[in-house]
Amino acid sequence: MRFCLNIDHFATVRNARGGNQPDPILAALMAEQAGADGIVVHLREDRRHITDRDVYLLKDTIKTKLDLEMATNDEIIQIACKVKPELATLVPEHRMELTTEGGLDVIAGLDKIKETNKRLHDAGIKVSLFIEPNNDQIDASLEAGADVIEIHTGVYAEAKSEAKIAEEIDKIEAAALYAHNNGLGVNAGHGLDYHNIKPFRSIHTIDEVSIGHAVVARALFVGIDKAVKDMIGLLK
Ligand code: PXP
Repeated sequence: MRFCLNIDHFATVRNARGGNQPDPILAALMAEQAGADGIVVHLREDRRHITDRDVYLLKDTIKTKLDLEMATNDEIIQIACKVKPELATLVPEHRMELTTEGGLDVIAGLDKIKETNKRLHDAGIKVSLFIEPNNDQIDASLEAGADVIEIHTGVYAEAKSEAKIAEEIDKIEAAALYAHNNGLGVNAGHGLDYHNIKPFRSIHTIDEVSIGHAVVARALFVGIDKAVKDMIGLLK
């Protein structure tokens, strides 16, 4: 299973003082050297962490692949079409949220998502849709022309009881199998950490996990190299 590091929160720390330190570009390069398979950033409409400069520089400097998380917002779509990341992951975005709060409703937003997918595909960019582990959303993702889905793992990550944890992991596994059997690439992410990642090792239909906060938090204490290697060690 591939591991991609979301570096948004290096930019959060940088922006706290308005300067250039810590530079998320350096974080990305160090993560790649430690073995990360890709770099993920969310260019939000309000630019609260990652900025346009970061996205352009990352595309020019990283050696692995860039996954650009984005809303179906016209300005951001135009930037994506210029930057040409290897993957664009469409996510819902609400101004007041602390982080992405759930999957896209592809059924309700089908027309807009289809149109966005077409614009991104025309620019040569593969598209992933961040959705709940639900077959109706997977069918809608296929109809929208997605190449990949990213399964929202936030509900699993928040689950407290053993029964709820087992129920959520079963849902994720079933959705991953359904999507895989229908020809979609399967990623997963949100709220994953060094403890709750363990069941993912045996879900072979998930190609890639996208993890940010937990790895950035560990990197504060042990450094990026070790934080990335520790996560890769749990996945392989
Ligand atoms: N995947 C998506 C689509 C996200 O929006 C986020 C958060 O930016 C993540 C993965 C990573 O979540 P976390 O920071 O909780 O690991």
